[in-house]
Amino acid sequence: MIIKDVQFVQGATSLEQMPRAPFPEVAFVGRSNVGKSSIINRLLERKNLARTSSKPGKTQEINFFLINNRIHVADLPGFGYAKVSKRQREAWQKLIGSYLMHRKQLRLVFQLIDSRHEPTALDRELMMLMPESNAEHVIVLTKSDKLSGNTRQKSVSQVRKTLASLGQDKPIILSSAQDGRGRQDMLDWMDTLLKAS
Ligand code: GTP
Ligand code: MG
Repeated sequence: MIIKDVQFVQGATSLEQMPRAPFPEVAFVGRSNVGKSSIINRLLERKNLARTSSKPGKTQEINFFLINNRIHVADLPGFGYAKVSKRQREAWQKLIGSYLMHRKQLRLVFQLIDSRHEPTALDRELMMLMPESNAEHVIVLTKSDKLSGNTRQKSVSQVRKTLASLGQDKPIILSSAQDGRGRQDMLDWMDTLLKAS
């Protein structure tokens, strides 16, 4: 897939507010600060399209982008960020849960996990939730530019082990918003999704 046209569509804080257009959709989901917005910018080759920050909790709504007039990309708020209010945290959790379970257009979920750390309890919870969704589930390990070659492979094995402990076997992409690693694999998945729609 070649990115020709990118448009911000809208932000949403409930299912009702989300775009009605029937474009197939790919979502980027993961803990706060894991690098969701950064990888979207890299993927779409637009520097400041999705707003990023070194402080967790930057993305506060589900933001929708329309790519080549054919596919929606959804940038989700992060989960598990302790420093926002409990109410806000619960509201985001609920939004993310209902989005993953009930959003009809959703076909592909990139679950982002920081390659430098073992999957957390929340990462595992999301893995366990995914079989209930109709979307394909692909793991994306982020910030791999911060690791050496050897530890990169270790991080892949670690996640594979975690998945196996849950009886799952999912594709794993090593990625970096900094050097572009993994970008082509993500684009290929989006192509597969378009062909299947
Ligand atoms: P929330 O919206 O708060 O959930 O965060 P997010 O998951 O969208 O993370 P965001 O893209 O805002 O990035 C968080 C921080 O990580 C920023 O300081 C980024 O510059 C940094 N970062 C993201 N991706 C990479 C990467 O691939 N490599 C490196 N070295 N830093 C990265
Ligand atoms: Mg973000």
